[in-house]
Amino acid sequence: LTAAIGIHDLSFSTGQFVLPHAESARHNGTDVDKYHVGLGQVAMSVPAIDEDIVTMGAAAAAPILERHGHDRIRTILFATETSVDQSKAAGVFVHRLLGLPESTRVVELKQACYSGTAALQLAVALVQRDRRQQVLVIAGDVSKYPLDSPGEPTQGAAAVAMLVAADPALVRVVEPSGLFTNDVMDFWRPNYRSTAIVDGRLSVDAYLQAVEGTWKDYTERGGLSLNEIAAVCYHQPFTTMAHKAHRHLLSYCGQPSDRRNSAEAVGRTTAYNAVIGNSYTASMYLGLASLLDSTDDIMDQTVGFLSYGSGSVAEFFTGVVAADYRDHRRRNENRDVISRRTEIDYAAYRELHEYDLPVSGEERALPRQTAGSFRLAGIADHKRVYQPR
Ligand code: CAA
Repeated sequence: LTAAIGIHDLSFSTGQFVLPHAESARHNGTDVDKYHVGLGQVAMSVPAIDEDIVTMGAAAAAPILERHGHDRIRTILFATETSVDQSKAAGVFVHRLLGLPESTRVVELKQACYSGTAALQLAVALVQRDRRQQVLVIAGDVSKYPLDSPGEPTQGAAAVAMLVAADPALVRVVEPSGLFTNDVMDFWRPNYRSTAIVDGRLSVDAYLQAVEGTWKDYTERGGLSLNEIAAVCYHQPFTTMAHKAHRHLLSYCGQPSDRRNSAEAVGRTTAYNAVIGNSYTASMYLGLASLLDSTDDIMDQTVGFLSYGSGSVAEFFTGVVAADYRDHRRRNENRDVISRRTEIDYAAYRELHEYDLPVSGEERALPRQTAGSFRLAGIADHKRVYQPR
């Protein structure tokens, strides 16, 4: 029998600002239903100039340390595809900002939006080796596409922090996993670019192919049947993608696959993503937060997870919700994180989008914008300077 290991606590943070899609629609003359109905997106988070994956990651993790302390944390795994340095792991900055002990290992993981799941699975394996140990997993990204490109309304930003431990209070991670890798250029970001390049149509097809691929492997390894799974948290580049993916899976399994069927499995997972936008590595775990916060009766039920990272690597696995999850979720805090963002207009968003940090390494103090707990104060001598706010 596998020991119970999984997500013991989950907390998230997002950017300081929010751009409603109604405002974007007004600006560019698009029918707002394309965003609200077609993409299933209502708004997107936009980080302040003095925010990035480090400040969001630290802000997401701080409440976890307040609740559980750090005595048992020996490892920080930081998953991201919008890293701030080619060498140094973002988690090392977070480690200092949070005052964690020297006796910690810290590393960064990358494979597009998938690496949060790689981090979670590696964390489970580490706890399996030593059940007293806890692992802090952080998954955080800022999604940025070129202005006026089709990807623009699917931007967003957030970081999720999860404490992985034995006897978890939220979700026990269960075997088997279904795995899928396919070398495809659907979405990528060359080292010299700050915005991602995406072949939109191909990316949707590649995602659906990965859904089939992971499910096939999952069932071949003795996984559950679809009707034993109460809800599925999908990676959500935009929330209708989760519905599209689930309908694809239903029809692959020979089951009725209209919108009503996908709403049952997916509908409770999309509330946070619809107003935050794509947060890449964090997205699927915001889906889990939404599910836990919007239900009162899924204790002991099995939840599916479909993690997709362009390029591509995907994994399907399941988890079982803990009996007393309602006592440990962070529903009020999560709703506060979303509601305390400052609404901006399209012009202010565009200015933030176009702001570039110096690439020549010259000293620059950044304007104070964030109301969060941590900020990127500036750049000096090619070094990023992070501070508590
Ligand atoms: N009312 C209601 N619905 C409308 C509408 C209206 N007025 N106008 C359009 N729509 C619908 C369309 O019918 C379409 O829905 P279906 O796909 O169900 O037919 C939907 O709105 C989107 O419309 P378009 O396809 O015309 O939109 P687009 O050409 O502008 O591009 C996109 C859509 C390709 C997803 C684009 O937003 C994009 O490139 N996004 C970034 C890439 C991405 O998110 N890919 C997802 C898979 S890859 C992945 O998951 C990894 C990752 O995080 C990036």
